[in-house]
Amino acid sequence: MSVHIGGKPGDIAERVLLPGDPMRAKWIAETFLEDAVCYTQVRGMLGFTGTWKGERVSVQGSGMGMPSASIYTHELINEYGVKSVIRIGSCGALADDLNLGDVIAAIGSSTDSNMNRYRFEGVVDYAPVADFGLLRTAVEKGEAAGIPIRVGQILAADTFYNDRPDITDRLADYGILAVEMESAAIYTIAARYKAKALTILTVSDHIKRGEAMDSAQREQGFSNMVKIGLDTAIA
Ligand code: ADE
Repeated sequence: MSVHIGGKPGDIAERVLLPGDPMRAKWIAETFLEDAVCYTQVRGMLGFTGTWKGERVSVQGSGMGMPSASIYTHELINEYGVKSVIRIGSCGALADDLNLGDVIAAIGSSTDSNMNRYRFEGVVDYAPVADFGLLRTAVEKGEAAGIPIRVGQILAADTFYNDRPDITDRLADYGILAVEMESAAIYTIAARYKAKALTILTVSDHIKRGEAMDSAQREQGFSNMVKIGLDTAIA
């Protein structure tokens, strides 16, 4: 086992879906995977390995925020030999032409986290980006399933609640589609350790319009995204 994951070497597939919520990981394993086995319960951050269309896939909770997501991404790649991680989650939209339930794939992830300023000593503004092959596959899988995927840049934020609408407005002016809290760290760590990463998100709320999905809408939106994520992982 690694410091934060209870599985033995070999328990985790080379392709991992990474939802923030461990109970979502359990739901995905029970709803979509065959022969799913739970390989970790450490800190309640559940992880499962099973098969999707006959291919081995794992689904691991990452927790909320970049410190937590960094830990799981680092250990999955470095301790378990994971080759690709696909974050699936929700986001708050900034772009006016996005609606609740829309699916986004993050080609790049700006961040207000200090993580990369620390890493690069403030000399370079590193641009965390998605793996192009995974991104292209996700768009194709979405098209095949009749679920259009909006590709663009997002913000990985350190705060869910903030009182800087001036900054979020400016980010929207510069083409940032939506806000979530993990992608920049996942992209950076995957790049550092030569793994592939992608973030696929469902719009669960619209930050500027003050709209939010109800739970039935969330579940349907999440199902569509999970299928695209699984199909992308095994492609
Ligand atoms: N995830 C879902 N909605 C979000 C929001 N409004 N801000 C940050 N992360 C989110």
